[in-house]
Amino acid sequence: MTIRFILDGETVEVADAPATATLLDHLRYRLRRTGTKEGCAEGDCGACTVLVGEADGARVAWRAVNACIQFLPMLHGKALMTVESLGGDTPLQSRMAANGSSQCGFCTPGFVMSLHGRSIGAAGCELPVEDVIAGNLCRCTGYGPILAAGRDVAPVVRDDAALAAALAAIPAGASGDGWYAPATVEDLTALLAAHPDARVVAGATDVALWVTKGLRDLGTVIFVGDIAELRRIEESAAGLTIGAGVRYAEAHRALAALHPDLGELVRRIGGLQVRNAATIGGNIANGSPIGDGPPALIALDATLTLAGADGRRTIALADYFLDYGRQDRRAGEFVESIFVPRPHADDVIHVAKLSRRFDSDISAVCGAVRLRVTDGVIAAARVAFGGMAATPRRAAACEAALTGQPFAEATIVRAADALAGDFTPLSDVRGSAAYRRQAAAAVLWRMWHRAAGRAVSVRDVEAIGA
Ligand SMILES: Cc1cc2nc3c(=O)[nH]c(=O)nc-3n(C[C@H](O)[C@H](O)[C@H](O)COP(=O)(O)OP(=O)(O)OC[C@H]3O[C@@H](n4cnc5c(N)ncnc54)[C@H](O)[C@@H]3O)c2cc1C
Ligand code: FES
Ligand code: FES
Repeated sequence: MTIRFILDGETVEVADAPATATLLDHLRYRLRRTGTKEGCAEGDCGACTVLVGEADGARVAWRAVNACIQFLPMLHGKALMTVESLGGDTPLQSRMAANGSSQCGFCTPGFVMSLHGRSIGAAGCELPVEDVIAGNLCRCTGYGPILAAGRDVAPVVRDDAALAAALAAIPAGASGDGWYAPATVEDLTALLAAHPDARVVAGATDVALWVTKGLRDLGTVIFVGDIAELRRIEESAAGLTIGAGVRYAEAHRALAALHPDLGELVRRIGGLQVRNAATIGGNIANGSPIGDGPPALIALDATLTLAGADGRRTIALADYFLDYGRQDRRAGEFVESIFVPRPHADDVIHVAKLSRRFDSDISAVCGAVRLRVTDGVIAAARVAFGGMAATPRRAAACEAALTGQPFAEATIVRAADALAGDFTPLSDVRGSAAYRRQAAAAVLWRMWHRAAGRAVSVRDVEAIGA
């Protein structure tokens, strides 16, 4: 398969791009751009951060991603910036040198690229500098000098009109060697009908690790990241319809506007580089018991639209997760969109992610509660958890203990006790069964204390866009 991308103004053509080679390996071993480092090869450390740009009218929309978990063909039709693109004497790099922001230097190119992205208005540039570098790890500096350098740097204005035009001129849809990149939902439907066993790839933040860490052969791959119809967010009085290919970073503001807890949840999904690649559709379709999106979306009564050659169907998101590794998705179907109803004015909503590290960590328990409280009585209750069972799941006994009861401390006590009937969690590296049980009950307690106006957060919450 031949792919084309633009690096520092030059079109790079790769005539023999292997479907699941990583961008990082291509940079280091083929282009000899060794400034981009390999730390973990699983999206955790940010040492491999590069900026990827997509034409957006007369501008280029840049985003920082981890090159170690981007498949090379995903770059077709896009622009790329690596640490070498910057030269070495940008104001940011000078500030970093002056501040002592680099010691052994291994992490430095990754931080430079994350912070450079912030200065040129890349996705997530509105976030505090701490959030922009939450996906970059440094074992030497203690972060203070890096943060100081990042805060000091003035915005850089780029004129990307010529680059945008050059990107638009690259024909879409490079395919070959078991890699397909459909440009429309119609083409995706036909391809999946012809290859029902193909592996759908969106942001690859789950799938790439099956290759880099699991050394798996993915077989036929259908990349859905270039399908514009799957990348739309539509807002209405009823709620939000989010295309399966919308990345978490792109949905952050709209979800935060729906409820601040959703914004805070998204802020804690991976680091910015992960959210700049990871899609909501992938988070759901993956069916992981510890995916962060599903519990909150289930509590909000979200519905999922699946599409395939036999047409479309819409189901409650809660019904999609059948068992560990098993979802209600038929051969040839794909996740098309998710609809999240707008919360009611009477809704008390609480979403909590509990993980060992605050930033960029996978949940031990992720819980969400939505109570419709009318005249002091809980008219309806939706409670859902991740990390407590083989799938993200509603807590039926807990919901029953809440429904029809006064919104009062005694009710919360009974509901927290009822969770024991809902879940028999496992012990694993992220938390013991006892911890998980206690943490799940604490989600209810936090909800109650917050509704009562008492401080509950371990850290100030900066809800963006709300
Ligand atoms: C460092 C790191 C940190 C992470 N942190 C978090 C975290 O904090 N919280 C969290 O929840 N997750 C986290 N993840 C996991 C991952 O980022 C999310 O699950 C992400 O949303 C997956 O989306 P994706 O587009 O990358 O999916 P992909 O990796 O492309 O695909 C994932 C699965 O979904 C399928 N799929 C994708 N799109 C569709 C579709 N439209 N229709 C049908 N099937 C589809 C794929 O076939 C595959 O089975 C992290 C991952 C990494 C690497
Ligand atoms: S090498 Fe660690 S995130 Fe890519
Ligand atoms: S300077 Fe050594 S890892 Fe950051």
